[in-house]
Amino acid sequence: MDVPWAPGRLPLLGHVVAYTRDPLALLLQASRLGRLVRLDFPWMQSMMVNDPDLIEQILVTDHRSFIKDRFLQDLKRVLGDGLLTSEGDFWLRQRRLAQPAFHKDRVAGYARTMVDCATREVSRWRDGEERDVHEDMMRVTLEIVGKTLFGADVTDRAREVAEGLEAVMARYVDPVATGVPHWDKLPTPLNRRFHQGVQRLDRLVRDLIAEHRAGRQGDPGDLLSMYLAARDEDGTGMSDQQLRDEVLTLVLAGHETTAIALSWTWMLLSQHPHVAEKLHAELDAVLGGRAPTAADLPRLPYADRVIKESMRLYPPAWAIGREAARDVELAGVPIPKGTQLWIVQWALHRDGRWFEEPDRFDPDRWAGDLQRRIPKYAYFPFGGGPRMCIGHAFATMEAVLLLATFAQRFRMDLVAGHPLKPLPAITLRPKHGVRVRLVRRASLRPPEVRAP
Ligand code: HEM
Repeated sequence: MDVPWAPGRLPLLGHVVAYTRDPLALLLQASRLGRLVRLDFPWMQSMMVNDPDLIEQILVTDHRSFIKDRFLQDLKRVLGDGLLTSEGDFWLRQRRLAQPAFHKDRVAGYARTMVDCATREVSRWRDGEERDVHEDMMRVTLEIVGKTLFGADVTDRAREVAEGLEAVMARYVDPVATGVPHWDKLPTPLNRRFHQGVQRLDRLVRDLIAEHRAGRQGDPGDLLSMYLAARDEDGTGMSDQQLRDEVLTLVLAGHETTAIALSWTWMLLSQHPHVAEKLHAELDAVLGGRAPTAADLPRLPYADRVIKESMRLYPPAWAIGREAARDVELAGVPIPKGTQLWIVQWALHRDGRWFEEPDRFDPDRWAGDLQRRIPKYAYFPFGGGPRMCIGHAFATMEAVLLLATFAQRFRMDLVAGHPLKPLPAITLRPKHGVRVRLVRRASLRPPEVRAP
């Protein structure tokens, strides 16, 4: 099979200019050219994989032939050897250690904390005020991950985390910064900000662990307690560095993605008032103004579809990358060891082969049997195979509960003229936030705020 090149390839520079200019447009166009499409970055061999069956081969059936891509390897500068970035037996041991915290029953037990955090937040909102709702979502989801997994109250550190994260993310928008070896050694403003960002995140995590160790926070069943109690066959526990890597990974992976899913959802709802109305009708009928619980989830199918459809158009993890760990073949094409493989949900989720009018926001497309009719790897916001998101049930429940809590009280109107640009860093963030004007929904009693 002849593998085409993505459009916009220049001599010497390959796709660097096209990618830097508009990565999402480049990848969307490229994805339509074939099952496999070549990308030209001078420092690495890259190929885009646009076929659900080939994606299944990479993530599931032949997953041992692949490791995380260069991008994720580079992310070790921030996350060290945590669950997202580690490999092999070491990864497997850590995954098994964390798994009980994500067991179905345990996750259902986090529902109340999720709703309480959201209710406290919404009780501070005022009719008619203008807010950056993305900032709000980041704060609430950070508070939730801190409380549920680590028994820690990190509310007063939200700004520090947001600034640290922003400084870190800036590096991952720039293909040169992550691709060219030793680029990070140059004293550029971007690099300085990056290193300061990592230090800020480090500080937060070390304080969190120190407080837990000192017995001031947490319950004996939370994830951090399990990490602290874990012992090897030879009786050694996790090193401080390892603890730091796992905790930072979960704090970051566990809040930003869900916040982003909600932020794009608010944007979409404000652009599609008929969808918002239908959602409000469901919430009013099922909840009648009271706080949602885990038991309500099966009775909120439309809210679930809204989140699902929002993650189709704006997948918070917009791409997954793998590197061939040995010479392999995909659809008969030889893929040399070291090739970087790009699996881009941003493009796959907008593919007309699986989704009618793919650019249209239509939660009801999920009402029938669409999920069963399309290939498994045509819609996969949480990845797949052994490296699938450990927090997928946590995130899905959290997103629906938070959507229900906020949308019961307020409608959000986008502030006219505010730019809405997806920024594809590690995650697909709204580059300038999501600025909205709040409109209180009439006829509901004020929220009951439970004591923390
Ligand atoms: C809407 C929210 C979320 C989305 C879209 C999302 C997406 C993903 C995806 C696509 C992967 C696979 C990456 C790969 O294969 O390279 C992943 C992995 C991971 N996610 Fe999530 N995630 C979300 C929420 C969460 C939450 C709430 C947590 C934890 C509380 C979490 C923790 C992790 C971890 C630790 C991994 C690495 C798992 C491993 O390799 O064993 N994520 N996530």
